[in-house]
Amino acid sequence: MAMSSTKRALITGITGQDGSYLAEFLLGLGYEVIGMVRRSSTVNFERIAHIQDELTLASGDLLDEGSMIGVIAEHRPHEVYNLAAQSFVQTSFGQPVLTGDVTALGVTRLLEAIRVVDPDIRFYQASSSEMFGKVVEVPQTELTPFYPRSPYGVAKLYGHWITVNYRESYDLFATSGILFNHESPRRGLEFVTRKVSHGVAQIKLGRATELRLGNLDAQRDWGFAGDYVEAMWKMLQLDEPGDFVVSTGETHAVRELVEVAFSRVGLDWEQYVKVDEKFYRPAEVDLLIGNPERARSVIGWEPKTSFTDLVHMMVDADLEQLSRAEHRSR
Ligand code: NAP
Ligand code: GDD
Repeated sequence: MAMSSTKRALITGITGQDGSYLAEFLLGLGYEVIGMVRRSSTVNFERIAHIQDELTLASGDLLDEGSMIGVIAEHRPHEVYNLAAQSFVQTSFGQPVLTGDVTALGVTRLLEAIRVVDPDIRFYQASSSEMFGKVVEVPQTELTPFYPRSPYGVAKLYGHWITVNYRESYDLFATSGILFNHESPRRGLEFVTRKVSHGVAQIKLGRATELRLGNLDAQRDWGFAGDYVEAMWKMLQLDEPGDFVVSTGETHAVRELVEVAFSRVGLDWEQYVKVDEKFYRPAEVDLLIGNPERARSVIGWEPKTSFTDLVHMMVDADLEQLSRAEHRSR
């Protein structure tokens, strides 16, 4: 196919939270964006419906090496962002082998496809603070030793090291962004921030009377996904590939998240939240807090959205969405 001089980016996981924000961001920069989507019996393009006309969607799956070789050979991207994964920690305990196949080996399949088709492609791997797990240092930096606590964390650690390995073995421009938790109104409903914002909106509108949660003591460094995708792009514009922690440098307990979310709508969380052991994990990550200094100094990235603004944004969006749906159904 004839190629223009426009920069092309391939995003795996474009139907997910980060994929949709990154696609918007790259389109805004004038990129041609190719989104890899896997086959499903029901179309799940809600997060990209508003930009679908501006995207090229290509069929592929991280479980299928040939499909990725095909997508890269046909579309010849300059940059590949690997955001696809089985990304829910709780599910990784129930489906550890699938999680390893997609989230760990999937990275090797994609790197191999790049190495074979076009080793000049710049590659971004979505690594995770979950790799720090039972943390051995506070705050965590690019040099903190890893200690993953879930099959997901172990799989991400493999993905991280295979990225480093392909950089060192084949001189690929392979970069690993070690991103701490980042959230948004587009977050999946199973993750705690969205579960809380959606639950609060339902209770406020009289559709639910309680919210069942697991460990309220866990602490996370939560940022806004819209801010974090910019860091991914900035990493691929450097002269050299590397590893970068992306975080806010603040940590908050789940209990605090709950307090801020309920008080946004004038409710007392203690009257509605019930602790349910069903949501506890076999091994927990108690405390995450990242030091984003290297990202700040080397790529000039800083988080723009505070924890309170993020929680308010999510509660407001869920309230609005649920109220609109209520009006439509009348
Ligand atoms: P997400 O909303 O769960 O999206 C995951 C994406 O991966 C979806 O588009 C999903 O497609 C796709 N996918 C799953 N299995 C696949 C397969 N076998 N082949 C191809 N695509 C597949 O995740 P996210 O929050 O946007 O996170 C993006 C990436 O960053 C993930 O790798 C995640 O592990 C990592 N990460 C996230 C955070 C965070 O706080 N959000 C922090 C650190 C790292 P379907 O829509 O078809 O299911
Ligand atoms: N999901 C969920 N549901 N978590 C709960 C609940 C609940 O009802 N109650 C308490 N939690 C606690 C979990 O035990 C965990 O300590 C914390 O809330 C955050 O859970 P999640 O929102 O599911 O996120 P995560 O930290 O396990 O994983 C996310 O962040 C990683 C980066 O550190 C995911 O996005 C991963 O893909 C990502 O890599």
